[in-house]
Amino acid sequence: MVEHEMERDGTMRVEELPGQDRMMSDSAGAGASLAARPTAGSAHPLLRRPRRLRRTPALRALVRETNVTMDDLILPVFVTHEPDTEHEIASMPGIRQWSVERSAAYVERAAAAGVRAVILFGIPESKDATGSDAYDPDGVVQRAIRAIRERCPEVVVIADTCLCEYTEHGHCGLLDARLEVDNDATLEILRRVVVAQAEAGADMVAPSGMIDGMVGAIRGALDQAGFPGVAILSYSTKYASAFYGPFRDAAQGAPSFGDRRSHQMDPANSREALRENALDVAEGADMLMVKPALAYLDVVRQTREQFPEVPLVAYNVSGEYAMVKAAAQQGWLDEQRIVMEILTGIKRAGADLIITYHAVDVGRWAHGG
Ligand code: PBG
Repeated sequence: MVEHEMERDGTMRVEELPGQDRMMSDSAGAGASLAARPTAGSAHPLLRRPRRLRRTPALRALVRETNVTMDDLILPVFVTHEPDTEHEIASMPGIRQWSVERSAAYVERAAAAGVRAVILFGIPESKDATGSDAYDPDGVVQRAIRAIRERCPEVVVIADTCLCEYTEHGHCGLLDARLEVDNDATLEILRRVVVAQAEAGADMVAPSGMIDGMVGAIRGALDQAGFPGVAILSYSTKYASAFYGPFRDAAQGAPSFGDRRSHQMDPANSREALRENALDVAEGADMLMVKPALAYLDVVRQTREQFPEVPLVAYNVSGEYAMVKAAAQQGWLDEQRIVMEILTGIKRAGADLIITYHAVDVGRWAHGG
């Protein structure tokens, strides 16, 4: 292959040049310097040739604008209350629910593959009207935070802050008499949740419920409880998306009736995201998020431009992962190249960080495994 020959000796021989370049070599004589040769015989002299910088892998690396590294990736981890178990999630091949102890061992293996940050989701033993396991000091996520902290002190631990996995009805907050999410009553619960997560040792909390005022409420709660250093990654622009389907199997947090359209954003809107972002930054969000990623890269770009100074995260969600895995299992596409192309595209659109279920695989590929 031409490409490989170039990789070996770093030079490009005239005989290997296709099309236009070959025509030039015919008139100017084989072996003449490409740079010095005039474009004889052409009515349109080609002074500008973007292909010059694509000739070799080394040249391409020099001019590459976007690089995805393990520092950019955050691995989601599902932790179940069940002792001593690991359950593979059918719609997310390679991803499991881990018992508390095994979750720490899994994070240790992920860290060995290069993962530097995890975001935790819990599957509690019992669910109730207020989602009390989410703020119980011995709730499943609090136990997992402590276990991971102890075993992998160098890993950044982010706790997802929402109630949908913990409420008996699967909604992201308390319900009022009309069975709608009661915004302001939910804020009080979220304040308790973040304090429990911070006490367990979370570096960062990530409110994901799209409850109005959630960032300000939990910033106040963290500060009052003596945790001014715990950061907030707000799911600032979270769409009501069908791409969350596999996650709801994984986290067992599907609503038992209705849906989340009264609080998550309408996929048709992007200007509304500007408002959500501005509110969250004003309330004290340390980082912003767009979720899902792939169908919303315009929103990623727009958020990057609105707040160039605020780190931006994109969530490469469960449905996006499941589509790639399913096609790869059929042999319909090259998993490794597709994953790197997707992650590069998300970063190129403007994300600094990507939450992705592919993180461990990417780390292994980088180590040649
Ligand atoms: C809610 C939450 C969801 C996801 C992350 N946090 C589901 C939802 O809003 O219904 C979805 C993540 C994914 O699909 O990978 N706590």
